[in-house]
Amino acid sequence: MIFGDFMMGARSRLLGPSIPFRFFGAAVFFQFAAWVLIVVYADEMPGFQGGPGEMLAALHLVTLGVAVMTAMGAAFQILPAVTKRPLRSVVACKATFWLFFPGVLALTHGMGHQQLWAMEIGGGLVACGILLFAGLVADNLRQVGDMKVVTDHLWVALTCLLLLAVFGLSLVADFDYGILPDHLGVALAHAVVAAYGFMGMLALGFSFILIPLFGLSAPADERNGRRAAWVITGGLSLTVVALLVGNSPLLFAGAALGVAGLGLHLRVMAKVMKSRMREALGDSFVLIRLGWVLLPVSVGFGLTAAAGVAVDRTGPLFGFILVFGWLLSFLMGVLQRIMPFLASMHTVRPGAKPILVSSLTPARPLRVHMIGHLGAVLLVAVGLACDSGLAVRLGAFSGLIGSLGFATFFANMIWKLWRHHTKGRKC
Ligand code: HEM
Repeated sequence: MIFGDFMMGARSRLLGPSIPFRFFGAAVFFQFAAWVLIVVYADEMPGFQGGPGEMLAALHLVTLGVAVMTAMGAAFQILPAVTKRPLRSVVACKATFWLFFPGVLALTHGMGHQQLWAMEIGGGLVACGILLFAGLVADNLRQVGDMKVVTDHLWVALTCLLLLAVFGLSLVADFDYGILPDHLGVALAHAVVAAYGFMGMLALGFSFILIPLFGLSAPADERNGRRAAWVITGGLSLTVVALLVGNSPLLFAGAALGVAGLGLHLRVMAKVMKSRMREALGDSFVLIRLGWVLLPVSVGFGLTAAAGVAVDRTGPLFGFILVFGWLLSFLMGVLQRIMPFLASMHTVRPGAKPILVSSLTPARPLRVHMIGHLGAVLLVAVGLACDSGLAVRLGAFSGLIGSLGFATFFANMIWKLWRHHTKGRKC
């Protein structure tokens, strides 16, 4: 009964607040930075087909700077609570941040300014941060015999994390030394392994802990959850092989299997949602549900582009719906639930009144974020479908406002946490 274990283990296995919150703070900053870049260079997004430039930089400010950064902060805190085993080294968690954060800055700077040396140094630092993270998580997971539905997803996610780094670094090296026989094939395999493989399997795996926690629901069906994980993994493997060898029928078969597995997962989550005790779930679940809907939609755009239909529109739409529609929506929905929960737990101590989760979750800035994000996803998608730089810029502006709303929510929470700790005064 994973959810109960989590609640029992969470309090006693809290890392110092600076560990998870430095990752979350960086993610909040990189979300803002990505939207600034898209507002300024919006005309470059319609028709974007990859290659170095500001759009590739904006894409990796979100994928690495927001998605992977959040995954690292969340995993470092959630895993010890669930596995009831501490991470091997807190210093190594800090070192992961001090490799990964400057790595993302250097890599995206290099991508944006087409400076190969910066891409290579940044890629190297990012890869070292990823390896250290993967080592800490694998070390923790290998000691776990139970909660198979979570560990199955996480082992597949870790394997994809290593693969995405190898593909990513080889793409950077190919810009300099022309080492790859099929650059586009590797770029698409990299995108699939990264966004569906690592981020997808990590998010779907942790959903077995977090979705019942957020809804106060009955535990999820672990047997069908494991089945879904392995069907998705089969689909992913076929898709990646198909992209690397350039085999279309295999690509469609892999995608179909992947979507079937995803359907099974979403059915398990739908049952959890139905059994929930907490009726109103708030704005966070508008974003989580949007992510659940846009994940299979992104596969649809990917297959349409793979079939050669209006590739200059469906190609960019695939990348945008995948990264901003599914990944960013789902992560921002989850992040705005786990951060106040974690912060509140850090205020529990003798002689001080803890801060309630509700007082760390002001509705207005989060509503600004939700509306800004929904406006961004809609307008940018319309801009890519209609080849309109103006619509993309308006959408990016909406996203920027949304990211400022999220930053305000974050700043308010950190300020209250800090004041509670420094003054120990009742809030
Ligand atoms: C070690 C970390 C990473 C490195 C060095 C890296 C590097 C690259 C490079 C060089 C490209 C350009 C390929 C091209 O268009 O010519 C690329 C494309 C891409 N990357 Fe990454 N990346 C990394 C991590 C990630 C992560 C974590 C994600 C998603 C969660 C991601 C998603 C994408 C996507 C969607 C594309 C576009 C693929 C296309 O051209 O259609 N990357 N990456």
